[in-house]
Amino acid sequence: MSQRYAKITGWGKYVPARVVTNDDLAKIVDTSDEWITTRTGIRERRLRTENDTTATMSAAAGREALASAGISARDLDLIIVASSSPDYLLPSVASQVQDMLGASCGAFTLVAGCAGWVYALATANQFIIAGTYNRILVIGAEVISFALDWTDRTTCVLFGDAAAATVVEATDEPGGVLAIELGSDGSGAMALYVPDGGCVSPITQRTVDERRQYLRMNGPEVFKFAVRTLASSLKRTIYQAGLTPDDIDLYIPHQANARIIETAARQLRVPLDKFYINIDRYGNTSAASVPLAMVEAIEEGRLKEGDLVALCAFGAGLTWASVVMQMGTGEISPAHSLFSLGRARYLARRTSDALLDTAQAAMLPLYSFLYERRKKK
Ligand code: UT7
Repeated sequence: MSQRYAKITGWGKYVPARVVTNDDLAKIVDTSDEWITTRTGIRERRLRTENDTTATMSAAAGREALASAGISARDLDLIIVASSSPDYLLPSVASQVQDMLGASCGAFTLVAGCAGWVYALATANQFIIAGTYNRILVIGAEVISFALDWTDRTTCVLFGDAAAATVVEATDEPGGVLAIELGSDGSGAMALYVPDGGCVSPITQRTVDERRQYLRMNGPEVFKFAVRTLASSLKRTIYQAGLTPDDIDLYIPHQANARIIETAARQLRVPLDKFYINIDRYGNTSAASVPLAMVEAIEEGRLKEGDLVALCAFGAGLTWASVVMQMGTGEISPAHSLFSLGRARYLARRTSDALLDTAQAAMLPLYSFLYERRKKK
């Protein structure tokens, strides 16, 4: 069998019609537009309407992706839905979506917090390069609002509901997914979790009284994890693809906090305008965040056939995942050829990055100290 590659051939999104601004939230919790905007970059988010569920939103995004790829649901070999907010504990939301779309293939849900869709894309890539499947629908969808405590200002202002989908197809022309990295650090699990509702602590009257069925997050801890992870995972994955950070045409990071994205741009030494940002309009849509940003980047013409794109998401688990890919197919990195100018540049950039990473790691405790001190003022 000749070498196979996985490329994205279709895309679609579904965002609920209900727009909720920071000022709207200031009417229900002690917060302000100024605090939310300066600390996170979020101005508004979408929250589901009465008829939206994770399955219906996934199916709507999926239908749009199938239409844009020019295929029908019957052509699909597999459906993967990344979500941490399924309609039911059982059955899997992916089976509901398979039925709603009229597909006749396998379907499963993948849970990896906000990193879920990037994990799912990496999984689809493996099914394709192994020769198992040719056409896979990869969806990221969340109705995260149902899991939020709407009396807790430290979490409820951050998230939003959305779904986005891509069709991933096999090709024998080089391109598509070039490199992946999947990561997990379960020692940080309690930094972002839902205390009750699982088998350790099923729902009881106490759960409801103490609001333990809702998401809890140690924001500063997750912030530090994100800052440590985003640029470093992107860098490793870019190098694995034989590229340097300068070669990437567009970065699509998880939209959790604009400050995290700005820090990553500085650490990678690439201009911020190479990072796609739509957190201002949607907040953190968890597993839908990266695919939603990717779909909008394509719709706005910021991501075109042949472009190199680097994706990275991080979240509950704690997990992270990065994918470097080329939209469509075509010539890949000059760094792949052993004696080229591209390779010399690649080695120089890699060496200087390694030195800089060591210096930055040594400075991290000082940065944390200064950050905490500034917040106390
Ligand atoms: O997708 C999963 C990954 N999630 C993330 O990546 C989130 C990472 N974390 C963050 O983005 C930030 O930590 C947050 C945006 C969640 C919080 O920002 P922060 O600058 O780390 O604030 P903080 O939690 O240290 O809180 C600072 C102050 C506190 O008040 P005191 O104790 O200093 O008086 C909070 O109570 O800000 C207060 N605060 C708020 N004030 C107004 C927290 N939330 C709010 C709010 N409105 N919504």
